[in-house]
Amino acid sequence: MNKKGFIFDLDGVIVDTAKYHFLAWQQLAKSLDINFTEEENEQLKGVSRVRSLEKILAWGNKTISQDLFDKLMGDKNEEYLSYIAEMDESEILPDVPRVLNLLEALDQPISLGSASKNARTILERVNLKSNFHAIVDGNDVSKAKPDPEVFLIAADQINIKPEDCIVFEDSVAGVTAANTAHMISIGIGSKDVLGHANYVFNDFTEISDDFIKSLINN
Ligand code: BG6
Ligand code: MG
Repeated sequence: MNKKGFIFDLDGVIVDTAKYHFLAWQQLAKSLDINFTEEENEQLKGVSRVRSLEKILAWGNKTISQDLFDKLMGDKNEEYLSYIAEMDESEILPDVPRVLNLLEALDQPISLGSASKNARTILERVNLKSNFHAIVDGNDVSKAKPDPEVFLIAADQINIKPEDCIVFEDSVAGVTAANTAHMISIGIGSKDVLGHANYVFNDFTEISDDFIKSLINN
């Protein structure tokens, strides 16, 4: 059996944490008298924590000191972690376990490639940590997506060449990162947003076992 490297983004691919990021960013925005909408939250998908706060401040036309910036980043994360603490397996997105189990049965290396610094905590909460042979997250990289660094490290850790890797991603920046790394990109979400991916599916329920097998054999 051929071996391919399967690299999964976390937020928006394995679990829907965008709603928790939204609640935490909204609380922060409110404290600064900034109106923060769900549409704006959409634009923060795949965007690093620092860059997210910079964007919110720019939308609200606010400038703040570095000290306050650092404090707000810490506060936001604490608030976010309070939601994460309540997560369990029921929050795994539909058919993700089926695909992970199939890959395991087919002996394929599986890696996580996430921008989040909370990735390990979240995987533990939803009981999926042991499904991954390598976990690369926001703590392991110096350049955020769309830079391909996170996926290149993820490929290296499972000893698979980048061109033999397949990336599942829900963000525009993440699909670009996978393409730049010369990996096969699979967008999870809408074709209107992720049209630059090699394949796009609304969610994992649309990804058949045969499709996964065809990726392995090609
Ligand atoms: C990405 C999310 O996966 O991780 C972003 O899509 C988030 O919304 C980024 O800002 C960083 O996450 P964290 O957990 O380190 O704040
Ligand atoms: Mg994501």
